Amino acid sequence: MKIAIACDHGGLDLKRTAVDYLHTHGYEVVDFGTNEACSCDYPDFALPAAEAVANGTCDRGVVICGTGIGVSIAANKVKGIRCAHCHDTYSAKYTRLHNDANMLAFGQRVIGEGLMLEILETFLTTGFEGGRHQKRIDKITAIENKYFK
Ligand code: RB5
Repeated sequence: MKIAIACDHGGLDLKRTAVDYLHTHGYEVVDFGTNEACSCDYPDFALPAAEAVANGTCDRGVVICGTGIGVSIAANKVKGIRCAHCHDTYSAKYTRLHNDANMLAFGQRVIGEGLMLEILETFLTTGFEGGRHQKRIDKITAIENKYFK
């Protein structure tokens, strides 16, 4: 599985931990930056990661900033992206089972490395349940088709 990953300066340390984990566990990683500690703008990095997931270059995506909120908002502006801002494993499990989320957002200033890695593992190893949930995702897609150019 190929994973797109990106962060701003507020998420750089957690991203490095996530990248190490992904490599160790056999995932292919495409890193869209930033790799600098200096202040930058999270949409500049969340956008190419989200585009890579939306166009199928990558299977899933992970975006990280200080809170996880800015990157999740930015990623969710890309058509086809369902980016879940998760700081607990229950949400990570059910956003895969019920929402078929294709991206995950973390806030480095909110959670620690250990919890982040458990959430990431849950997200990457849980499948979509389908059934009644597909109809709901189809309704989200209909909203995108109505409002996105
Ligand atoms: C950067 O200071 C911070 O605003 C950013 O990382 C993120 O938390 C935004 O949502």
